[in-house]
Amino acid sequence: TDQTSPADPFGFLGLTYDDVLLLPGYSDLAPSDIDTTSRLTREISLKIPLLSAAMDTVTESAMAIAMARQGGLGVLHRNLSIEDQAQQVDLVKRTQTGIITNPVTIGPDATLEELDTLAGQFRISGFPVVDLENKLIGMVTNRDLRFTPVAEWATTKVDEVMTPQPLITGPSTISRDDATLLLRKHKLERLPLIDPDGRITGLITVKDFVKSEQFPDSSKDGQGRLMVGAAIGYFGDSWQRATALIEAGVDVLVADTAHGNVRMLIDMVRRLKTDPATKDVQVIGGNVATRQGAQAFVDAGADAVKVGVGPGSICTTRVVTGVGVPQITAVYEASLACKPAGVPVIADGGLKHSGEIGKALVAGADSVMLGSLFAGCEETPGDLVLVNGKQFKTYRGMGSMGAMSSRGKKSYSKDRYFQAEVTSDDKIVPEGIEGQVAYKGPLSTVAHQLIGGLHQTMFYTGARTVPELQANGRFIRITSASLKESHPHDVQMTVESPNYSGF
Ligand code: XMP
Repeated sequence: TDQTSPADPFGFLGLTYDDVLLLPGYSDLAPSDIDTTSRLTREISLKIPLLSAAMDTVTESAMAIAMARQGGLGVLHRNLSIEDQAQQVDLVKRTQTGIITNPVTIGPDATLEELDTLAGQFRISGFPVVDLENKLIGMVTNRDLRFTPVAEWATTKVDEVMTPQPLITGPSTISRDDATLLLRKHKLERLPLIDPDGRITGLITVKDFVKSEQFPDSSKDGQGRLMVGAAIGYFGDSWQRATALIEAGVDVLVADTAHGNVRMLIDMVRRLKTDPATKDVQVIGGNVATRQGAQAFVDAGADAVKVGVGPGSICTTRVVTGVGVPQITAVYEASLACKPAGVPVIADGGLKHSGEIGKALVAGADSVMLGSLFAGCEETPGDLVLVNGKQFKTYRGMGSMGAMSSRGKKSYSKDRYFQAEVTSDDKIVPEGIEGQVAYKGPLSTVAHQLIGGLHQTMFYTGARTVPELQANGRFIRITSASLKESHPHDVQMTVESPNYSGF
């Protein structure tokens, strides 16, 4: 098939999630046999094939941390300054690690007021104190503040309250087991690591060790740090944004616009994958919805291709522009370009229930990106809103008036909708809406239901692994009558279900 020049002037039929079901298949699996590991990019695999959307009501550092702990990946939105987005990357990379390789330090002459600010900014409670050559001279923690009246914080220096050397330290190359022994033996909260010259090279905290045991599936880089993605564009200072994010330790850059089949964005991907300063980071290109669009990113060297033009719950692109491809067909078409090149596909937007994850994987995706299904989580940005005694969280399209206008604060992401140069709010043409979704509690419970659903998909279809599901899964097309049959019908729901809220 070739979508771009169909013999029939009306092209061929596009299908979406509600148009298909997966056929049940013979299964002799035990639930514990099932493995949901899948490829995110050419070089990164995830234990659970879920990404949280790069939207300002979905993914900032707290959500990215929660996603990586569960075994997925958060993609930080780009509707904020370069410095703020890079700081969000930094926050994720410093969290829950075996070893913090680049700990935040403080000088002996800093005041307790500065110490308190730094602790709040990085949400950490203890710092190695270093001299100008980065040599460890003491440790200081929030507890050390307690014995100085707040009124004296501005005039008291860190070296007056810190625990000075000699301290218990470990070598930079310490093993996990040796570190555990030292922490236990000396009842330490923190173990600084130093090189032979006494310079600080790392920090181990008891809290992080415990946490890393609690999240066995977490997505980690080669140094044991949580993985994180971040969105960038193609306009203005996007190259500086990309390099600042890399500097902060980002694992995956997502070159992201609502229409990814544009020269400047494809050039951005190509440049990122060829420039010596950036080529080692994984780069995802998006969004496309045709085979040709996906091929352009594959040819530019993208490490994965993100698919979806207009399927999202908050999107109005299809009605505002008349352009789009139903998502199951879009994913399938993109996979025809990506599969032969070994480039994974991400199905972005339009998922309403856990059952659609398996459908996306069988259609040709390797992972899915979710906005509305995650927007109600505790870890997303924004406060809870109480309406008629029920709790909600704000959820809005990145092409909505709220995200693109200067209402509230500067918009950094208008170029996602090719309106970077529109300066006056009344000239903006929105492609998304603003709304709210029911509050759902912590991501861990939401992800549990979604992945539980995928496990059941794999059991019902007899697939032990995601590649088996992709190879053997078969669709059946359904009618609107059978869609009605699929959902609860002819009964009034009386008890809310954790994984079903309605049609
Ligand atoms: P879901 O359905 O998971 O979709 O809520 C999330 C995805 O929707 C895309 N997105 C938009 N698309 N106008 C659009 O046409 C918008 O304002 C908008 N905001 C987000 C995006 O791909 C996201 O991951």
